[in-house]
Amino acid sequence: MLPHDGNRAPSVHTYNLCLLGYGNVNRALAELLANRRDELRERYGIEWRITGVASRRMGWLTNPEGFQAGALENGDNGDSVTRHTGVSDWLRAAGADVLFEATSLNVQDGQPGVAHIRAGLECGAHAVTANKGPVVFAYRELRELAAAKGKQFLFESAVMDGVPIFSLFQRTLPAIRLTGLQGILNSTTNVILGGMEQGLSFEQALRKAQELGVAETDATHDIEGWDAAVKVAALVNVLMGIELRPQQVEREGIGKLSAEAIRGARESGRPYKLVCRAARSGNAVKASVRPEQLPITDPMALVEGTSSIICFETDIFPMLRITEEHPGVEATAYGMLADFVRAVNPEQSL
Ligand SMILES: NC(=O)c1ccc[n+]([C@@H]2O[C@H](COP(=O)([O-])OP(=O)(O)OC[C@H]3O[C@@H](n4cnc5c(N)ncnc54)[C@H](OP(=O)(O)O)[C@@H]3O)[C@@H](O)[C@H]2O)c1
Repeated sequence: MLPHDGNRAPSVHTYNLCLLGYGNVNRALAELLANRRDELRERYGIEWRITGVASRRMGWLTNPEGFQAGALENGDNGDSVTRHTGVSDWLRAAGADVLFEATSLNVQDGQPGVAHIRAGLECGAHAVTANKGPVVFAYRELRELAAAKGKQFLFESAVMDGVPIFSLFQRTLPAIRLTGLQGILNSTTNVILGGMEQGLSFEQALRKAQELGVAETDATHDIEGWDAAVKVAALVNVLMGIELRPQQVEREGIGKLSAEAIRGARESGRPYKLVCRAARSGNAVKASVRPEQLPITDPMALVEGTSSIICFETDIFPMLRITEEHPGVEATAYGMLADFVRAVNPEQSL
């Protein structure tokens, strides 16, 4: 399909979408897709309907006519809905063109996200995920499977909520060498540290992060540094081409920091941040996630709340920084929507 060239309307194709996991991210995606429906059709020739939705509680549901947004929320889906027993059966019955995988992170082996994406690609669907697990545990396998099937495996929302980091390197920085990176990549711990600096208890600050919808399903993954370690591993695997498991990242969370230490650090002008680092050394990499006191002049020290920052060290640009200010969950949904457009319309121009 050709992108809209400004002179003629693109031909319209309707895609069957399957949402696997129906929590914060895929709910926000369903809403964003509905908000952008006219623009997707007019500019990219993309029409869509959600023919499959699944979660542990809901089970594997399909509706060939397309689910109505309200019906997804209240489970009242009428006579056209069929229940299935597993992922492949569900994808086939939904006639899936694109699978959006947004189930909970599993830091041990990436399952069942890996199996979901494998099934999606095997069934001939593009696979788009916000789940970091499949990227760190099965990136090469899934990339090769996607290529063999002539489909796309895209995961822009897995790190920094949909900010185009992976596509920045893959699409606009050919033949550059990434030598190192550092950043603040976990919103939950950043919200907690900021809240405790302002006098909240740990529990109150965690609740704030959960209310914002940025905490992992199991928030200990955030607090113990696992989420950040998985993000570092995803960046190293994809952008440095070095296989790194989250378990190989030196990791310390924020759980041992007392409220006094956090407030004292802020008052002394050297606030605590949960800092991610990776440095290439030949074909190896040294990576860490740990609380560090940063001088207030460091751009990473200025990142507050759900904001995040990534600083890339390359052989061409000594330091390339991207800051994302106060994103909500719709930013993650946007990364998935952008992946969808790229997958079905790879030549698209913005
Ligand atoms: N929230 C964010 O800001 C954000 C940002 C970037 C990336 N992510 C990633 O996006 C993914 C989803 O995050 P979220 O915030 O939407 O999580 P969430 O609100 O906890 O929702 C997770 C969803 O996955 C479903 N699920 C979990 N395990 C499943 C399984 N084995 N089979 C079927 N469904 C399963 C859950 O079903 P039940 O509710 O029925 O148990 C729920 O619908 C995670 O991998 C997270 O790391 C999130």
